[in-house]
Amino acid sequence: MNHKHFSEIPSTQEYLKALEDIGNQDILVTCDHQTSGQGQYGRVWEQYQSGVCFSFSFYPSDIITLTALEVGVLICHFFKAKYNQDLYLKWPNDIYTKEGKKCGGILINNTAHSKQLIVGIGLNLHPENYSSEHRNPASSVFTEKIISDKVQLVKEFYKYSLDHRLDFRLIKDQWNSYCLHLNKSVTLNDGQEYKGIFTGLGDQGQAKLLIENKELEFFSGSLSLEKNSSLHQ
Ligand code: BTN
Repeated sequence: MNHKHFSEIPSTQEYLKALEDIGNQDILVTCDHQTSGQGQYGRVWEQYQSGVCFSFSFYPSDIITLTALEVGVLICHFFKAKYNQDLYLKWPNDIYTKEGKKCGGILINNTAHSKQLIVGIGLNLHPENYSSEHRNPASSVFTEKIISDKVQLVKEFYKYSLDHRLDFRLIKDQWNSYCLHLNKSVTLNDGQEYKGIFTGLGDQGQAKLLIENKELEFFSGSLSLEKNSSLHQ
């Protein structure tokens, strides 16, 4: 593994995207502080004190659109296996706590010169004063445990992910098993707003919503949960 660490960097994602050619290298970029983090949908990703922000190279899954979903499953697997910590997923690329609060997210980009993708992850690790200005209330992966060496955790996660790639046929079912809102009422906005029951992922990672007895499929959009559908059961 080729690991680069910066005390401060605008964006680990931008750093990797700007590399000439990553070829087949396994590259991990970590930092203490990211000053200009990019989130999903062109939003800003704000790093909290106890947060980790990192990016790495990753070969696409056999169905490329499943790659970010696979990474979500790997995050859940890793925290369960290593820390016995349960995490959940919200479509498409959010990491949630059992209480229905966002504690992290995944961003994925293509590279110009390599078959590999760039995966960026932001995770809040420990409880702190999360800004209440956000649309979604934020939370952290851990409520009590304190991770003293966050970079070591990230290195272990990357190694775990490279060693535990999922067969693309398993991703959908595994993702559904961690889904916070399976068979629950959700609103999906792709420019237009749709209200329905989330019935799971399609083969390419699309969201399936049951709306007035018809199943509709969405390949992009942002999804919000009904207030009473926050607890995973
Ligand atoms: C989200 O919007 O839910 C999460 C987006 C992912 C943010 C990470 S932090 C590390 C990497 N560098 C960036 O600028 N963005 C990603």
